[in-house]
This record gives sequence, C-alpha cells and structure tokens, in this order.
Amino acid sequence: MIETRTMGHSRTIQTKLVLPPDTNHLQTIFGGRVLAYVDEIAAITAMKHANTAVVTASIDRVDFVSSAYVGDVLELEAVVSSTGRTSMEVYVLVHSTNLLTGEKRLTTESFLTMVAMDEHNKSTPVPQIVPETDAEKALFEMGPARLAHRKERLKTMH
Ligand SMILES: CC(C)(COP(=O)(O)OP(=O)(O)OC[C@H]1O[C@@H](n2cnc3c(N)ncnc32)[C@H](O)[C@@H]1OP(=O)(O)O)[C@@H](O)C(=O)NCCC(=O)NCCS
Repeated sequence: MIETRTMGHSRTIQTKLVLPPDTNHLQTIFGGRVLAYVDEIAAITAMKHANTAVVTASIDRVDFVSSAYVGDVLELEAVVSSTGRTSMEVYVLVHSTNLLTGEKRLTTESFLTMVAMDEHNKSTPVPQIVPETDAEKALFEMGPARLAHRKERLKTMH
C-alpha cells in the first residue's frame, strides 16, 4: 500500500444543474438530493485516495444555509481532510450559482467519514493524508477535535 497521499491527489469537483424533478413546490432543491450529491462526491474522493471500495460510516451535522433554485448550478468540492487507520474524513463544500446573475451562495458544508473496504468487506488500511497549502493544513489540524466530537456523539447512540 502507498503510505501517504496529498490532499490534492483526490480533490474532486462536481457541478450539477438543478432541474424540476430535484425540487419542491417552491422550486428549491430537496435537502435529500443535496445529501445524495454530497455522499456521492465523498465516496469518489475517498476511493481516489484509498483505491478501494468505501462505505459511508457517518455524515456530520448538515445545515442548509441557502436555497438552490431550478436553473442554478450546484458546485461541490471535496477533499480528504484527515485520515485514521481505515477511515477517511472527507470535507465537502457546496455552493449554488445563478449563472444569469453570477450570484454565488454557500449552500452547505459537511464532514463525512468513509471507511475503506477490502474484497472480503472488511475495513482495510488507507494511506495517511498530507496537507500542502495553508488552507489544507488548517483543515487537517482540526481533524482530531472533530473526531473527538464525533466519538462523544456516538456515545449517546444505541
Ligand atoms: C462503517 C463500518 C464498516 C464500521 O464497521 P466496524 O465493525 O465498526 O469496523 P471497524 O471497527 O474496523 O472500524 C473501521 C473504522 O470505521 C470507524 N467508524 C466506525 N463507525 C463509525 C461511525 N459511526 N462514525 C465514524 N467512524 C466510524 C472506526 O473508528 C474505524 O476507523 P479507523 O480505522 O480509522 O480508526 C460498519 O459499521 C458498516 O458497514 N456500516 C454500514 C455502512 C453503510 O452501509 N453505509 C451506507 C448507508 S447505510
């Protein structure tokens, strides 16, 4: 297995056009549709990093801070922000843009934990992530605090 990989190696960008079937009576996109896109890009990013199949272990809190309307373009960007032994934390940022006016707004952001799986459906080790830019380093350095918060939250389940 490759021991380390840079964040840039697996950084992924996707754009989606918001269409009528994606939206409610107010012509704004369903939150669940955005979540599906977030999950998809996180899986692609984690698979690029680990070169294995992955499953979604968790999605951290998701707040939708603005609506996206029919005709807007959703822009999703994802990086592996931290790694454990077999898990990868993926940061996903989502903006919507009205291409007629150029207005760009934050839709949501979230951290997902993806687990690498081997051919026997067992969790398997992943390369450690290496941040390079100042922004990547800032994201990486807060990883342990987010993990601790996640573990506290898990204790309240079951
Ligand atoms: C995620 C899953 C593989 C973990 O199984 P497990 O038996 O706990 O596996 P392990 O104990 O080997 O843990 C594997 C890694 O997952 C992490 N993990 C397990 N549950 C987690 C959770 N709820 N949130 C975040 N990370 C989690 C562990 O901390 C560990 O990370 P590390 O190796 O980097 O330290 C298992 O719970 C599963 O398959 N869940 C269903 C996944 C799925 O189908 N998702 C789609 C929607 S249902």
